[in-house]
Amino acid sequence: MEKLAKESILKIKSYIPGKPIEEVKRELRLKSAVKLASNENALPPSKKVVRAAKRALMSLNRYPDGNCFYLKRALADRFRMSPDNVIIGNGSDEIIVLTLRAFLRSDEEVIIARPTFLIYEIASQIEGAKVKFVPLKNFRYDIPGIVRLISDKTKVIFIANPDNPTGTYVTKKEINFLISRAPRDTILYFDEAYFEFAKDVSDYPDTIKYLSAPSGKGKNIIVTRSFSKIYSLAGARVGYGVAKRSIIDCLNRVREPFNVNSVAQEAALAALDDKRHIERTLRLVKKGKFFLYKKLDSLGIGYIPSVTNFILIDMGKQSKDVYKKLLEHGVIVREMSPWRLNNFIRVTIGTMDENRRFIRALKKIL
Ligand SMILES: Cc1ncc(COP(=O)(O)O)c(C=O)c1O
Repeated sequence: MEKLAKESILKIKSYIPGKPIEEVKRELRLKSAVKLASNENALPPSKKVVRAAKRALMSLNRYPDGNCFYLKRALADRFRMSPDNVIIGNGSDEIIVLTLRAFLRSDEEVIIARPTFLIYEIASQIEGAKVKFVPLKNFRYDIPGIVRLISDKTKVIFIANPDNPTGTYVTKKEINFLISRAPRDTILYFDEAYFEFAKDVSDYPDTIKYLSAPSGKGKNIIVTRSFSKIYSLAGARVGYGVAKRSIIDCLNRVREPFNVNSVAQEAALAALDDKRHIERTLRLVKKGKFFLYKKLDSLGIGYIPSVTNFILIDMGKQSKDVYKKLLEHGVIVREMSPWRLNNFIRVTIGTMDENRRFIRALKKIL
């Protein structure tokens, strides 16, 4: 089969998602399990959102609105832009793929941090392009290091802000510097899947503002955000991107006509203004984070302070074993060897019961 496949995909290691709860329960014959592996929201979507999704079910005989008219308009109004500045994706993941499909040629380069969100590397490899890596410094993006690697072949620079798997963020000042140094023919891609968790941190930037600010003039900026995290819609697969019209136009050319299903569109529209749900989530994450930090401190376990809904935890030794033992206790976390962080696990902040169960299991296995 390898002879039939595109050469560019042969070296790709496919993305391994966090294990689903049902699979773990089946495999290990557990009565219950908790999943803290994929940075999902521990809260289910609100009743209002479920009602909207149910209404959409009655029209499943029809194709969805391929233009996502209402959702785009709602987002455009929120950002005081035109719907022509917005694209909706089957998860924000899809917009990463569309960007590379539309813009990246095989003789061009992409700059990404290492480690960071894995899809940037995989999607760039599919296009056959060269990927240049900039190691994190102290678990943070090294923006001067990224700037130093820019060449006349650099087509896309990916910035996960906040970052996954570290939970750290790039400051306003660092983003200003990066934007000032970005060449005219380079796309700055700000992946903000966890934006809402970090937005009140004082020096965290609101990059959408750069689209209309003088400092962003003449630059190619794409900002993507997700309905999977704070809005509790990971299973619906919906995210959005904003950029100047000419960029969105190119993305639309390579997008499937009906990329976002109708249930996802209605659910996202209902979720967008659901302030109570957002506040409940932020409260839960804050309380859970405080609890986990305290417990980890008392166990003498190190971690990277996070502005997101997950924590990267340093087990101080090969964490594969810890991961397996936690699994046996019905706690699914993320084992970090795919990111070359062999001593670490990544834990999503769950409900307080889930957080307690994780700590109980951790205490037992240590
Ligand atoms: C940094 C980052 N970007 C993008 C995504 C993808 O999110 P979505 O569910 O919107 O495709 C994730 C998901 O975990 C992520 O961590």
